[in-house]
Amino acid sequence: MAGAQSSAMPGSSSVRTGVRAFGFALALFGAVAPVAAAPVAAAGEGGARYLAATCANCHGTDGRSAGGMATLAGKPRESLIEAMQAFRGGQRPATIMHQIAKGYSDEQIVALADYFARLKASQ
Ligand code: HEC
Repeated sequence: MAGAQSSAMPGSSSVRTGVRAFGFALALFGAVAPVAAAPVAAAGEGGARYLAATCANCHGTDGRSAGGMATLAGKPRESLIEAMQAFRGGQRPATIMHQIAKGYSDEQIVALADYFARLKASQ
């Protein structure tokens, strides 16, 4: 007589998820969370200078080009604003400035124009 093997399938009752490891990762993350948030840059006096620093890469330090690129320093405020808005709106064809200008609000464009217009074209 063949005994009916009544072995119940044990199944996968012993599977445990790695809950503990997950908890550990969370604790670790909490420990290294940044304590102080960086202060938001003020858009006041120093703000324009900070914005203008971006332009220096191509237009020279303080907007005084070393050649090959337009000098921004000493240009009339209105023409700087006009140029930036035309680049941004796509009315003025450009290789790069149409993309750069899109990153600035009206207020920032005015602040940049004020800043460069006040500088002397050459020192
Ligand atoms: C990656 C290089 C680059 C950067 C950065 C850059 N420019 Fe320009 N800029 C150019 C080029 C190139 C032109 C000529 C137009 C063109 O082809 O895009 C130009 C032209 C201009 C003109 C027109 C000048 C003229 O007399 O015709 C103005 C105004 C200007 N840029 C302002 C700015 C300001 C303001 C910034 C900073 C917010 C800036 N640019 C940042 C490359 C740059």
